[in-house]
Amino acid sequence: MTEIIPGLRQIRPHPMLGGLSGVSTNRMTLVAELRQRLNRQRGPLGLRLTNALTSAIEDDVIAAGEALPPERELAENLGVSRSTLRQCLEQLAEGGLIETRPGAGHFVARRILKPVTRLTGFTDDMVSRGIRPVSKILEKTVMPVPPDTAFRTALPLGTPVFVLVRLRLAGEEILAYERSIVPVTSVGEDYDGTGSLYGRMDQHGGRPKRILQSMRAVEAGAEIADHLKVKPSTAVLMIRRIGYGSHGVAVEDAISWYRGDRYDYVAEING
Ligand code: GLP
Repeated sequence: MTEIIPGLRQIRPHPMLGGLSGVSTNRMTLVAELRQRLNRQRGPLGLRLTNALTSAIEDDVIAAGEALPPERELAENLGVSRSTLRQCLEQLAEGGLIETRPGAGHFVARRILKPVTRLTGFTDDMVSRGIRPVSKILEKTVMPVPPDTAFRTALPLGTPVFVLVRLRLAGEEILAYERSIVPVTSVGEDYDGTGSLYGRMDQHGGRPKRILQSMRAVEAGAEIADHLKVKPSTAVLMIRRIGYGSHGVAVEDAISWYRGDRYDYVAEING
């Protein structure tokens, strides 16, 4: 996957690009590294500490998924008060850089890097990173194509379509809420919505060969926020995709809302 963003991570590859084999960082090395970063900064202690921790996470000095040392130990080793440290950690948690699990501590958040140059589905993206894709089916219905989908895709009115609404998870972590509408002929009448939609489409004449996709940051309404387990009005990534099969006929009309703090779209653009 390194071709996507060559050289972006100079220190070592982001664990999400190479599976789940994040190297555990030695605590002493981490503290020494944080001290150096703290001393390089100017300004109020709280700000320097936030910057030091942020840059250490961004540079993968502490890998995604790894735990930070316990609060008391970290505060003592860095020579800061626990309340200053806590304020910084709260800021990092609000910015989505770390996750605080009550009773367990603070962990560097996992982010999923998604290259925009390949036509992949959710399952492909997860599996290629060594992550277990999980889907919860919230709705599956066969119906005549809804008028707005017919309008977007040029599918003739009356075409039977399969409407699949799913919650998409990386292991146990909710990543997206997604509604896909595909012609029944693309998945077969006996499709029950389980497994990879694109995998199923591969067996029935093919997943999309070309897509038109738009991405937009939106505020999560109450329903989406509830599904994604974020606070209402949190910024989420709304992705619309229309997929076309090999003969140029539309085979998918999809809309997804991804947690903005868990998903990075990465593009390599050649000039
Ligand atoms: C992504 C796309 C969807 C597509 C899905 C297929 O999430 N945004 O448009 O339907 O992948 O994923 P899977 O094959 O895992 O069902």
